[in-house]
Amino acid sequence: MRIDIITLFPAMFTGLFDFSIIKRALDQGMAEIHLHDLRDYSKNKYRSVDDYPFGGGAGMVMMIEPIAECIRELQAKRDYDEVIFLTPDGRLFDQMTANELSMKGNMILLCGHYKGVDERVREHLVTREISIGDYVLSGGELAAAVVVDSLVRLIPGVLGDETSALSDSFQDGLLSPPVYTRPADFQGWKVPEVLLSGHEAKIREWRMEKALERTRERRPGLLADNH
Ligand code: 6GU
Repeated sequence: MRIDIITLFPAMFTGLFDFSIIKRALDQGMAEIHLHDLRDYSKNKYRSVDDYPFGGGAGMVMMIEPIAECIRELQAKRDYDEVIFLTPDGRLFDQMTANELSMKGNMILLCGHYKGVDERVREHLVTREISIGDYVLSGGELAAAVVVDSLVRLIPGVLGDETSALSDSFQDGLLSPPVYTRPADFQGWKVPEVLLSGHEAKIREWRMEKALERTRERRPGLLADNH
């Protein structure tokens, strides 16, 4: 998987992918992430990438030209499966979308800013629009990082058996059950007896029960959808 991120603030991604599972995937060549500073594609000497909205109103709008130029340059070098615009009015990102996108080859992520981008970018250059939740961020960068993280860890071979994505919260439409490690008794706070019993079937049953209970309490909507 190759991900090209178009952003006004490439430095915001510094360090974000240098740890843990994502770092390992990048080091092993299972994914590549390339950053592109949108200002490098500006048409003027001030390197500006935004302008006043036609018709007036508050806020600046990201211009189509630098974005189109950057995308054109990338698409001249290779084919892309998706050009994704990160925007709070996009489709809500979820695990199903992550699964789907994790099977793609090359994709471009475009990070939005200011009041938005010229609508013609969305109409003609972008294949899908993603929001990561119902709150507003100051730009699409953190959202892009969230999407990248969730996709890369799903690439086959990135996670080992122990960390298998199959047991993730949401992967089966349920939240994960509680987990514990040593000590079995911390100042009187005890680990549930069944987990120490060695009785595999009972442990499995307990985990399913807890997953359902937790989902019912915190995210009943997930149950209504699937169970
Ligand atoms: Cl993708 N962008 C911004 N600016 N805010 C968001 C978002 C994206 N998703 C949720 N909030």
